[in-house]
Amino acid sequence: MRRKVIQVLEGETLSPPPIWLMRQAGRYLPEYRQVRAKAGSFLDLCYTPDHAVEVTLQPIRRFAFDAAILFSDILVIPDAMKRNVRFTEGHGPEMDPIDVDGIAGLDGDRVLEHLAPVLESVRRLRGELPQETTLLGFCGAPWTVATYMIAGHGTPDQAPARLFAYRHPKAFEDLLMLLADVSADYLVAQIDAGADAVQIFDSWAGVLGEREFQAFAVKPVARMIASVKARRPKAKIIAFAKGAGYLLKDYRQKTKADAIGLDWSVPLDFAVELQKDGPVQGNLDPMRMVAGGVALEEGIDDILQRLGNGPLIFNLGHGITPQADPENVRLLVERVRGGRA
Ligand code: CP3
Repeated sequence: MRRKVIQVLEGETLSPPPIWLMRQAGRYLPEYRQVRAKAGSFLDLCYTPDHAVEVTLQPIRRFAFDAAILFSDILVIPDAMKRNVRFTEGHGPEMDPIDVDGIAGLDGDRVLEHLAPVLESVRRLRGELPQETTLLGFCGAPWTVATYMIAGHGTPDQAPARLFAYRHPKAFEDLLMLLADVSADYLVAQIDAGADAVQIFDSWAGVLGEREFQAFAVKPVARMIASVKARRPKAKIIAFAKGAGYLLKDYRQKTKADAIGLDWSVPLDFAVELQKDGPVQGNLDPMRMVAGGVALEEGIDDILQRLGNGPLIFNLGHGITPQADPENVRLLVERVRGGRA
């Protein structure tokens, strides 16, 4: 059975395009908040297959998206590397900040063991999802994961990681390459457990200077994709480098991603150019999902008109936010599918 998202990743144009949303399982859904409340901590939710499978399926039941994305987080990798990751209410993610000595002491050997419950969720999901639904695995890109490891928490512009990279280039390169190798193994394990395709999230690519973009975003992601494809030649990979702008053309060529994710700041004229080189995914502003009404309709129509004649996976330009109205999600899916929900 050929699943729609995979058909597009192979270069086909589908009309209507398949659709899923980044962060489609999450706090905007009351049924998510219910499971979240009984799971205990956020990481308990990620590491308990009963819960992780349930919240992954919730948005599929409600909206029949063409893809389900495994419920987990990009920060399970540093957690598996013993960085003491925790998610506290109102603070976002926190962990022990790493220094040069800490990087030298990092050990990637037990990561897949630690993540066995997540891989178990992938296996169960492939069994429980409708046949036609694509199952997506994912991980963070080395740069984005490293920004949290160095600062120990989220920051508005990743100044701590940018500074660290200038001051300690060798240690920083070691960190990125270790993350690339561990993450590639993790993606292969997700594919072997039943993921049909995987996405690499480089949510902080947009804060990098030109030279750093090549060294910290392109190079490690190219290494990961080469590593996954050497071992699983049929693997399909979406790379989302948020804020990369016009560097995306070069990014696709050098990383060899099967599709590139576009954030909402990518002009549709340029997106059409990018689509000539291969499939694109995106790029509705998540705030349109909060606003609804005309803002939602014109945003959808612009994307369908400009990108609908080439290989497109309809998505938001970043994750859906807790303020989004689930009714707007229903309207979005219905409109993208031409009035047939
Ligand atoms: O898309 C999905 O539905 C799958 C699940 C998923 C989550 N995080 C669940 C989550 C995915 C793919 C991610 C990726 C992720 N996590 C990224 C890359 C994509 C992006 O959004 O930029 C990043 C940078 C993280 C790190 C992270 N996790 C942050 C900064 C936060 C706190 C901010 C926030 O939105 O609360 C998280 C927590 C998190 N990850 C939540 C969810 C549903 C909310 C936590 C909760 O429910 O209490």
